Formats: sequence, structure tokens, C-alpha cells
Amino acid sequence: MASGVAAVLTSLGQRDYLSSADCSADETQGLLDLARQLKSGARRIDLGNRVLGLIFSKASTRTRVSFQVAMARLGGQTVDLNPSVTQLGRGEPLQDTARVLSRYCDVLAVRTFSQQEIVDYAHWATVPVLNALTDLEHPCQALADFLTMQEEHGDLVGQTLAYIGDGNNVAHSLMLCGALLGVNVRIGCPDGFEPLPGVLDQARNLAQHGAKIDVLTDPGMAVAGAQAVYTDVWASMGQEQEQAEREQAFAGFCVDQALMDQAATGAIVLHCLPAHRGEEISAEVMEGPASRIFDQAENRLHVQQALLAAVMGGL
Ligand code: CP
Ligand code: NVA
Repeated sequence: MASGVAAVLTSLGQRDYLSSADCSADETQGLLDLARQLKSGARRIDLGNRVLGLIFSKASTRTRVSFQVAMARLGGQTVDLNPSVTQLGRGEPLQDTARVLSRYCDVLAVRTFSQQEIVDYAHWATVPVLNALTDLEHPCQALADFLTMQEEHGDLVGQTLAYIGDGNNVAHSLMLCGALLGVNVRIGCPDGFEPLPGVLDQARNLAQHGAKIDVLTDPGMAVAGAQAVYTDVWASMGQEQEQAEREQAFAGFCVDQALMDQAATGAIVLHCLPAHRGEEISAEVMEGPASRIFDQAENRLHVQQALLAAVMGGL
């Protein structure tokens, strides 16, 4: 009979995780609690020899390796299914690929461009599908980010996270996941780079404990009094040709010491990585005492291990 954290997470068995909004507030907090137990060694889970398929259409260091290591620690293994080396790259339909891979793998993690594509994978697959980043969301990243914030500041309810940069995938998942966890999330972005209005509405509707989700065009106002300041690249994967125009649009949105001085005393700095020093973050802040960026990267491993265990019913 499952108890405590495990009881909360049994509902995730065989479920997909395509969006931060796919988990309830209790399930989201439960994943962070299990991740902390796994990280400290208080909990060990062996799933037997299960297999995770990684279908990645974009580059990845952290997501790929943290999923591989998480699966190894659960007693399982991963197979790399880069579309350029499978028949997908030669035009085999997704609906066939997803059904075939479901006969070999116990869970699939997909990194791709459109959210619709991962929704289609989840429709056709008969095993859980996890979002390893799309242009719309990066839900596994947000779990690691809030675990890092919780490790630093304790109870997340009522804390404020300021995200400075493009209001796209990482910002969307921070808004949704933060809302569920009772964290105020402020997005500071230039005009024209706001989060999607539909995601903003969704986050506000999901907000627990009175959490406020705001969008501001003044980075100083966004970080004022925040306990965590977060940034991401200005040109995401697939937008490389917009790099020069984005550098102009995002001028003034660099997370540097002057900006950090406006955050709360003891505020931490987060970045999902990869980072461009001297663009969205100064080298001084990236390497400074407030940076928790490498703890955050490590936490990808722990939250994904928790998520894999939950969706494969290993609790
Ligand atoms: N933060 C993150 O998802 O990094 P990778 O692109 O290296 O996986
Ligand atoms: N917004 C970035 C996140 C990388 C982890 C991108 O999509 O490239």
C-alpha cells in the first residue's frame, strides 16, 4: 500500500507529461518531494529492466544525459532514436513510428519543435510520452528549477521568481509550474516577446495560494524583491537566424549585477543553459555567489528520475 509521496504520485502511472499543466498541484509538489528523497539517498527505486526511448530532433546535453543517467539509476536503460538515423527521417509516418516504438520501449521522451507533434506522439503511443522540450514548453526543466528554488528558500508558497528574456518555452513552463506551486512568476520581456496570452490565462487559472503571474516590459520592475532571477538564451533553437535582431530587441535585458542588486537580499540566479555570457547573463553573475545554475542542472537528473518512476508505476 503506497503512502506519503508515493500515494500522491500513483495517479501519474502510465500518464503523459506534455505540459507543466498535465500535473495537479499535489502531483507537482509530490514530484519535487520524491526528487529530494532520491537526491538525498533516502529513497531508492529499482524498476527492473525498463527502456526509455529518446526521440530528439534538436541538440541536447542536459536533457539527454540526465534522462540516460536517471534511467540507469532506476535499473533501466535508454535507446537513442535520433530521427535522422531512424526511418522517421526518411518520412515514415509518426503514427506508425509511435506505435512501433511503444512495442519496444516502456516510455518515450520527445524533443521537437511543435507542441502538436508531441501531442500526436502521445495520441499514437501506448506508453507514456514525456516532453523533453518543444517550442511551447519545457516542463522537466521547470520541475528542476523549482526544486532548486525550494532547496535554497524552503517553502515555495509566496516566493517570487522573475524570468528575464524571451517569453517562450521555458517561460511558459515556469508560469504554469510556478502557478501550481504557489510561486509568483514575473516575466520581464521586451515588447513583442511576451508569453502567449493563452498560456498566461491558463497559468492564472491554475494559480494556487493566490500566486500572481505577471508580464512586465521593465526588467528592473520584474526583478524587484524577487527571490530568484532566471534567464535563458535570446534566440532559441530554430531561431538562430534571428540572433542579430534579437540582440537589439533584448538590449537592456541582460541579467547583470546592476539588475541583481534590485532583487531581494539572498536572491539566487538560475539559467536553464546553455548560456551566452555577455548576452542574456554577465560572466560575473553567472560565476558569482548567487548562481545556483549548476545545482539546477544537476536537479534535472533528480526530477526526471522521480517523473520516470512515477509514470512507470514504480512507487
Ligand atoms: N536546459 C536544457 O534543456 O539543456 P539541453 O538543451 O542541453 O538539454
Ligand atoms: N529556449 C531555449 C531553451 C534551451 C534549453 C531553446 O528552446 O533553445
